[in-house]
Amino acid sequence: MYNSIQLADDIFWLGVNDRKTHLFENLWPLDNGVSYNSYIIVDEKIALIDTVEKSKIDEYLNRIHDIIGERKIDYLIINHMEPDHSGGISEILKENPDIKIVGNKMTFVLLRGLYNINTNHFLITDGDTINLGKHQLKFIITPWLHWPETMMTYEETEEVLFTGDAFGSFGTLNGGVFDDELNMDFYIDEMRRYYSNIVAKYSKMVIKALDKLKGIKLKYIASTHGPVWRSQIDWVLKLYQDWATYKAEKGVVIVYGSMYGNTEQMADIIARRLSVRGIRDIKIYDASRKHLSYILSEIWHYRGILIGSSAYNGGIFPPVENITRKLEDIEIKDRLLGTFGSSGWNKAGVKGLNKWAQSMDWELVANSPETRGAPEKNSIAMCIELADAMADRLNEMYPDK
Ligand code: FEO
Repeated sequence: MYNSIQLADDIFWLGVNDRKTHLFENLWPLDNGVSYNSYIIVDEKIALIDTVEKSKIDEYLNRIHDIIGERKIDYLIINHMEPDHSGGISEILKENPDIKIVGNKMTFVLLRGLYNINTNHFLITDGDTINLGKHQLKFIITPWLHWPETMMTYEETEEVLFTGDAFGSFGTLNGGVFDDELNMDFYIDEMRRYYSNIVAKYSKMVIKALDKLKGIKLKYIASTHGPVWRSQIDWVLKLYQDWATYKAEKGVVIVYGSMYGNTEQMADIIARRLSVRGIRDIKIYDASRKHLSYILSEIWHYRGILIGSSAYNGGIFPPVENITRKLEDIEIKDRLLGTFGSSGWNKAGVKGLNKWAQSMDWELVANSPETRGAPEKNSIAMCIELADAMADRLNEMYPDK
């Protein structure tokens, strides 16, 4: 018998924790696991909101039966079709052959494509409602958070917004489920990592969705990953608005790729000077060691970005190049940039970085220090100049911090 966890009258959290999967989407590290959150509303009619990843189906079905016994589910609301949430649909359909699967046009394109399910479709459009008895559900179409079919479901009686991936976080829920039950420092980091890795590319659509939510009364924000928000609703809405508009804190992320330590030495020289100039948040990452997932999150966090690369086969050092490509892909804006590196016998590393920088339209704060081998007098002086220029701009932008 599981403890059922109640959000509000007749509304239950049905999340499961995944501590086994190493990579989310076979790409992003799950060092702290992840939760897949589903919800159920038990009224005259029963509505299930999303399902879970299929490896967790037995636990999930047991949890549902603990709450509803032998009753059948009337509606399965699909806010998002990615398999971490749709993995249970086939089993739910098997147990509830008369269920109405609720989604929009695009939901059913994906439902057919992923699971060959052509029956039980219940098509809704933006603003449609379903009455369950005491509770009423309203559907808000919010495409591209994070796939084209994504939507949100608003439960009007208790003012619960089921948001799909939006407001979600990596990290399992280790006992606590609600924001006021948890140490949020951990989840904010994991939430920013989730945002920058999964949602960030669609930041313009996040803004549209947030605009659409204006004026809606919210007591709960119930995402498909991580904490359920109930005590800091305005704060988390503002956090998402800030991330989607590329707001950042005072600080510098230094990312480098270094084959034999020369570019790394430059990173340390720059970092020391930044510190002397009063920059307190300085993060240094070796692109060969630290997964891109965490570096993206830090770049979303801080305004100043310094990228260093040794030359490699006539180009940028590959792990650094990978980061630059991803930054281009997610179209992050409004950062201060500096580049640096070591050249060996050609200047392809820094040259490649500066070519990439033109495509980003970030503010280049200074010329790029470059050394052939270990940093010498001239390149050390240029590293100091780069650090000074970055510190000057940050101190201008954040005079009180
Ligand atoms: Fe949690 Fe886009 O899936």
